[in-house]
Amino acid sequence: MRDELVEALRAALGERGVLTSSEDRVRFEHGWRYGKGTARCIARPASTDEVARVLHICAEHDARVIAQGANTGLVAASTPDASGTMVVLSFERLNRCIEIDVHARTVTVDGGVLLSQLNEALAAHGFWFPVDLGADPQVGGMIATNTGGTRLLKYGDVRRNLLGAEVVLGDGRVLSMLNRLRKNNTGLDAKHLFCGTTGVWGIVTKAVLQVEPKPSQRATALVGCRDGQAVLELLRCVEQDLGDVLSAFEVMSKNAMDAVFRHQESLRRPFDELPAYAALVELSTTLPASAIDLNEVLEERLGAHLEVAEESIVDILIGNADDFWQIRHHISESLRNDGKMLAFDVSVPRSSLPEFTDRVIALLASDYPFVRLCDYGHWGDGGSHLNLLWQAADTADSDALTRELQDKIYEIAVRDFGGSYSAEHGVGPHNQRFYDRYTDAAVKQLSAALATFCDPQNRLGTVTL
Ligand code: LAC
Ligand code: ZN
Repeated sequence: MRDELVEALRAALGERGVLTSSEDRVRFEHGWRYGKGTARCIARPASTDEVARVLHICAEHDARVIAQGANTGLVAASTPDASGTMVVLSFERLNRCIEIDVHARTVTVDGGVLLSQLNEALAAHGFWFPVDLGADPQVGGMIATNTGGTRLLKYGDVRRNLLGAEVVLGDGRVLSMLNRLRKNNTGLDAKHLFCGTTGVWGIVTKAVLQVEPKPSQRATALVGCRDGQAVLELLRCVEQDLGDVLSAFEVMSKNAMDAVFRHQESLRRPFDELPAYAALVELSTTLPASAIDLNEVLEERLGAHLEVAEESIVDILIGNADDFWQIRHHISESLRNDGKMLAFDVSVPRSSLPEFTDRVIALLASDYPFVRLCDYGHWGDGGSHLNLLWQAADTADSDALTRELQDKIYEIAVRDFGGSYSAEHGVGPHNQRFYDRYTDAAVKQLSAALATFCDPQNRLGTVTL
C-alpha cells in the first residue's frame, strides 16, 4: 500500500534514510528494559536540516514522532507506542561532527555520536567526557535523559557539563544555542529546557560539552560493610579526608552481588563470604604517581578507618579495579535473568538511605515475603536501584503486583523521605503515572506553556510533561 508520508520522507532523505520493513524496524521497536511498540517507519536524517525536514513532513501528514538515540534508556522513552502510526526519528546517521577545542576544553558534537566514539576522539587529546555509565548511549539521548551514572559524585550529571545545544522544535523550527562559553549570564539559559525533558519539547541535534582531563591514575577498593549505617560512616570518612580525589562511591548489596556470581561464571568472587553491602570506592587524579600514590593513600586511610569502625567494616580489598567494576556493571543484566524484575531508580537524601531501605525491607517482609530485594546503586549521590525480584509462579498477576509495589515504594520515597521516583533515568512512559502524581501543579502549568511554544501540535514523544 502507498504511504505518502514515507514517500515524502524518501524524497527528502534518500533511500537509505527511511526504513519500513518489519525486519528493519524491529530493533527500533523494543527498549532495553521497558517499552515495546510498532513504528510506521524509521526516518534516519543525517543533518540538522534533514531533522527539520522530517518534522515539517510529519506536520504535513499529521504524524507523531519519537526521537531515538542508541535506545539504551531504561524508562521506555525512546520506543514508539503501539499505534503503528509514529515515525521513529533515529540519530544513527547524524554522527559526523566531533570538533575538539583543546584550549577551551570543549567539544562540539553531533547528537548521534556514541559516548564511546566521543571518548575515543577525546582520548587522543588526553580528555574524556566523564558522565560514565555501563551502557553506550548517544550524546543527544544523554542530554534528553540527563544521564547520571557512576561518577556523578565528582563530575555531576549531563546538565552540569552542557554548555550549548542546537535543538529542532516539534514543528521544525531550529533553535541554535551552541554556546561555547563557561560564563554567560545573560538571562534564560534555554538549552536547559531540553536537558532531562526526554525530547518532548525539542530534539537535540548538536551540543557543546565541557570535557575533563583524563585521570592518569586510579585506586580502587571494595569495602565489605556490616550494614547501611557502616556504609554511610565510610562515605563520610572518605569524603572528609579524600574528597579532592574521590571519584566514585558505589554500593552493592549481598543479594545483588549474589545474582552477579550466579549468572557471570567468569567473574571472580572477591569475598569468601558476601557482606551485607560492599562499597566500591574509587580515587582518581591527573597527578602522576611520583607526586601522590593513590593506592598508598587509599590503603592508609581505609586502614585508619578500620581501627575506628571495628566490626562494622568486615573486609577491605584494594586493587583489581577492573574486577570490581565488572561486578558492578554486571548487576543490571544479571538481575534481568533472575526472574520477574521490577526496577527502581530512586534517590533520597544520602543520610536517609539506610532507614529508607529498612522501610522497604519491612514492607516486603510483612506484605510480600516472596519478593527479594536486590538493591545497589550510587550511594554517594543518594541514588539507589532498589530492584525487586520474584518468580512468575509466586503471584497470579505480576502486572498488578508491579503497580502495587510501585505505588507503595514511591510513596515512601517521595512523601516520607523527600526523595525522587526517578533519580537518573528520566521521565518516560514507565513513570508517567508518578510524574502526574508527584509534580507540583504550578510546574505542570509552566511545562504546558512551554509545550505550547515548543511543540504546538504535540507531535514529539510519548510522555506529557
Ligand atoms: C545502573 C543503571 C541501571 O546504575 O542505572 O547500573
Ligand atoms: Zn544507575
